[in-house]
Amino acid sequence: MSQPGIPPMPAGATRKRNVYDVLETLGEPNKTLLIRVDFNVPMDSNGNITDDSRIRGALPTIQCVIEAGCNAVLCSHMGRPKLVQAGADDEATRHERHSLSLKPIAEYLGNLLNKEVVFAPDCLDAKDIVSQLSGGQICVLENLRFYKKEEKNDPEMAQVLASYADAYINDAFGTAHRAHASTHGVPACMTDKSKVGIGILVASELAFLDFRHTSDDKITAIIGGSKVSTKLPVIQGLLSNVDNLILGGGLAFTFLKAKGINIGTSLVEEGMIDTAKTLLEQAEAAGKKVFLPIDAVCAQGFPKAPMNPKGTKTFEMKVGAGIEEGWMGLDCGAATIDSFKSALAESSKICFNGPMGVFEIAPFDQGTRMLVDELEKVTRNGTITVVGGGDSVAALAAFDKTSSVTYVSTGGGATLELLAGDKLPGVEIIPDYEG
Ligand code: 3PG
Ligand code: MG
Repeated sequence: MSQPGIPPMPAGATRKRNVYDVLETLGEPNKTLLIRVDFNVPMDSNGNITDDSRIRGALPTIQCVIEAGCNAVLCSHMGRPKLVQAGADDEATRHERHSLSLKPIAEYLGNLLNKEVVFAPDCLDAKDIVSQLSGGQICVLENLRFYKKEEKNDPEMAQVLASYADAYINDAFGTAHRAHASTHGVPACMTDKSKVGIGILVASELAFLDFRHTSDDKITAIIGGSKVSTKLPVIQGLLSNVDNLILGGGLAFTFLKAKGINIGTSLVEEGMIDTAKTLLEQAEAAGKKVFLPIDAVCAQGFPKAPMNPKGTKTFEMKVGAGIEEGWMGLDCGAATIDSFKSALAESSKICFNGPMGVFEIAPFDQGTRMLVDELEKVTRNGTITVVGGGDSVAALAAFDKTSSVTYVSTGGGATLELLAGDKLPGVEIIPDYEG
């Protein structure tokens, strides 16, 4: 069977069984597949979905299943319904049961597909509804986390979910770093492992977020964001693979201070200065090119609202110069972005994780904007550009550049863990394809 939507794996690499393999094993229509999706999408206070990319991301797998004439039972969590899980009374939980229900998501999906989507209001009491599906129907189960057994990876909950279907697919990349009943328990309890696989979204994420060197490609990682301690595992995980490491955003100031450059009142993690120094030494010893900001756009305090650029000052970031006392670095300047250009242009694959500055507040969005413009250029010239992690994805959306890069990950924590080189429990439990 051809496998549209699944990016090729590097030669010799093992791959996971996927939805196409599972459908082939099932061999006939009218089977039912339980698909774990991540429909944990952001919503505004009126319950409108503000970013539907996780729902759209699941469409290829859903379509693949229903086009094979099989039924898709979709299960997901939404938010963290603490009161429901604590067993609070109806009055106390009414708001959570309403605001964290998957019912509006089921309706939204129905509109996207222009197809009826059945909703099962209790994810653990859905047998009757599910058993009536036929000929490629879709059903969405209510929020899995309305049961605390979900996060406890409770085997009984897993058994109930598994009993709904002939096969199981995990397409919930955003939740693949959690070992919960629906992501880990269900595939673990299914005795016939040939009926367990990943979906098209998970397969794509794994392929695009794979930064292992496979040939003579040049790989560049751009890591920004505010906290060194949060990004350290990602930097370390990527370091062995990349040729160029670009560090920006708030976290860069700890590295600049480690090099003896004045950073004024910029964000710094004093406890990480030694680690930053060691990391720079390791990178240089390994022959990696490390780029840090060479100029910084500063203000005399953290801005609460957009500022007139006249109130900002740009300092050169080098030993003997740096930021004046009383000034705070909030973005990198144009010279910095210029200094990245040749590294970006020579790269065949680039990972961008974390903004270069306070992109939410003008004019400190400029560094990230200029960087994104460069990414757009190199993407047009054939470089694979992969963006992951909540803030950088939000920056792309804010600049209306989401479709200017090759791939935007749907994961938050899962993306960071994968880039750091960690195994994702929801993926590990899926068997390898063995031909
Ligand atoms: C996410 O948005 O990070 C995923 O959906 C996982 O949610 P969680 O962090 O609440 O487990
Ligand atoms: Mg999270």
